[in-house]
Amino acid sequence: MKLAIICAMEEELAAIEAAVSLNLVAKLDKASNNYAEYKFGEHTIILVVSGIGKVNAAVTTQILIDNFAPDAIVNVGVAGSLTRDLVFGDVVIATDLVEHDFDITAFGVPLGQIARMDTFSFAADAKLNELLHSVSLLNHQVVLGRIVSGDQFIDDEQKALFLRNEFKALACEMEGAAIAHVCYLNKVPFAVVRSLSDMAGQDGQGIHSFNELKEMAAGRAALVVKNLMEKL
Ligand code: ADE
Repeated sequence: MKLAIICAMEEELAAIEAAVSLNLVAKLDKASNNYAEYKFGEHTIILVVSGIGKVNAAVTTQILIDNFAPDAIVNVGVAGSLTRDLVFGDVVIATDLVEHDFDITAFGVPLGQIARMDTFSFAADAKLNELLHSVSLLNHQVVLGRIVSGDQFIDDEQKALFLRNEFKALACEMEGAAIAHVCYLNKVPFAVVRSLSDMAGQDGQGIHSFNELKEMAAGRAALVVKNLMEKL
């Protein structure tokens, strides 16, 4: 199997490199990013850091698909929690994703609906999710639920509450739905795995927690993807 893994930040990729031992076979530089191809047993794994935000994530996903034809794409990293039931280091595996900042409500369309698309949310691959969910993490929950993405770091209790109520989402981040959108257009199976680095501003825990805990959370997400790779 050929599996591509996209991280938005170097810290997230470093956590995967620390968790899994991989043999580099090739590299590709394109659009300011580096795509590294590895052998992992009989499988091929491609790792790339996309950069932050939906456009960076979308460009990287399309380049991956065009140049490597992966069987599946997994986005791995950290996110803000939208519920007090989930805390730092807990993991959300996306059932589906919505671009929360896509706003054509002026036309009477629900917030998050992409103009003239035949779906409201982008559903992750059920088989990948089953494998991802088969992990158990010491002292941390691993749950399935909706993730929302937008070009905003959420550090505001009211905004976090709004996203939770509007979208029934468990976590927010800045790339997953864009990767899901590109995979949907290309009919490539995908999954999104995010460990919680902050509370998106709930109880005052936003940017400070992110800065303090992003490496810890990236480590938890890396363990979940490691488990997936071992079960391929
Ligand atoms: N990634 C990690 N925490 C986040 C937050 N609070 N908002 C957006 N993206 C994030």
